[in-house]
Amino acid sequence: MRLGILTGGGDCPGLNAVIRAVVLTGDTVYGDDTVGFLDGWKGVLEDNAVALTSERCRDIMPVGGTILGTSRTNPFAVEGGPQRVVATLAAQEVDALVAIGGEDTLGVADRLAGHGVRVVGVPKTIDNDLAGTEVTFGFDTAVQIATDAIDRLRTTAESHHRVIVCEVMGRHAGWIATHAGMAGGAAEILIPEIPFDLEVVCERLRRRHAGSQFSSIVVISEGAVPLEGPDAESARRATSSSSVDAFGHARLGGIGTWLADEVERRTGFEARVTTLGHVQRGGTPTAFDRVLATRFGVAAVTAVHDGAFGTMVALAAGDIVRVPIATAVAEAKTVDLALYRDVAGVFLG
Ligand code: F6P
Repeated sequence: MRLGILTGGGDCPGLNAVIRAVVLTGDTVYGDDTVGFLDGWKGVLEDNAVALTSERCRDIMPVGGTILGTSRTNPFAVEGGPQRVVATLAAQEVDALVAIGGEDTLGVADRLAGHGVRVVGVPKTIDNDLAGTEVTFGFDTAVQIATDAIDRLRTTAESHHRVIVCEVMGRHAGWIATHAGMAGGAAEILIPEIPFDLEVVCERLRRRHAGSQFSSIVVISEGAVPLEGPDAESARRATSSSSVDAFGHARLGGIGTWLADEVERRTGFEARVTTLGHVQRGGTPTAFDRVLATRFGVAAVTAVHDGAFGTMVALAAGDIVRVPIATAVAEAKTVDLALYRDVAGVFLG
């Protein structure tokens, strides 16, 4: 068989581990050739591809980013896009495509399956907000990076008796904030799933600082918002960005700065903000992500040879399974509120 592979959306530690696993499994187990499309769906639209050999992929496991490049190109937002994708795959004599991505990239894959494209999905996002799988690769690395940052922020916050707000990624879901906040012993964890009451946050910080604690770490997801009302209005004004990507997502960022300013103004505690941003996506994957990405890559090639098109490989109770891509992209997987309230919540304040 001739396999095609692409990486789409935001990059993510572990992408190269999946590419390596797909190419080596195809080559050594099935005798497949693999062609890699450059920059996600853009490479398929523009017929921009490179041959991927086992030799090329042998040492890429620990390398961050993606050797194929990525983009947020949406073929369905381009005139004749789906037809061009089908034409490229035919010209490249690709029998089956492995699409590695999150909700947007796999949403495209799902729609292309309706145009007859034989595609298998691999779930990727540091945000961990893709349904159908317990976890996506990249998430563990992002949580580890955020936790390391919180550990470092804690000592400087303690030395200066400050509140430090740490803004982490998480557009629709606060998985990184919840896990890194728990691991780092944050005083507050604010996530998109639960609009926060700024006065309650400030009051808890006042109580905390009136006791034995004179510093606090507040972890906030980039997509978190205050409860509707004047605070939400003010936060919107401070964080709004007019630029959206081809899937209609606004560029987020800034809620941490807004929060730190408000906390300082209302409580009188000196406050600072650190926005982790793309640091969370760069660099080498953790061992957990390397292993998960490798398992996903092997399973994707097996799924192709089983003819399980339109499915995504996924993790369920420690096993690799297949779920319909349509299920995975139907709606975002938000934070388990039992985990947030009953476990993380016990240690807040
Ligand atoms: O890939 C998901 C994500 O990391 C989100 O958490 C974040 O909002 C977005 O990507 C940032 O995208 P970009 O790389 O386009 O700035």
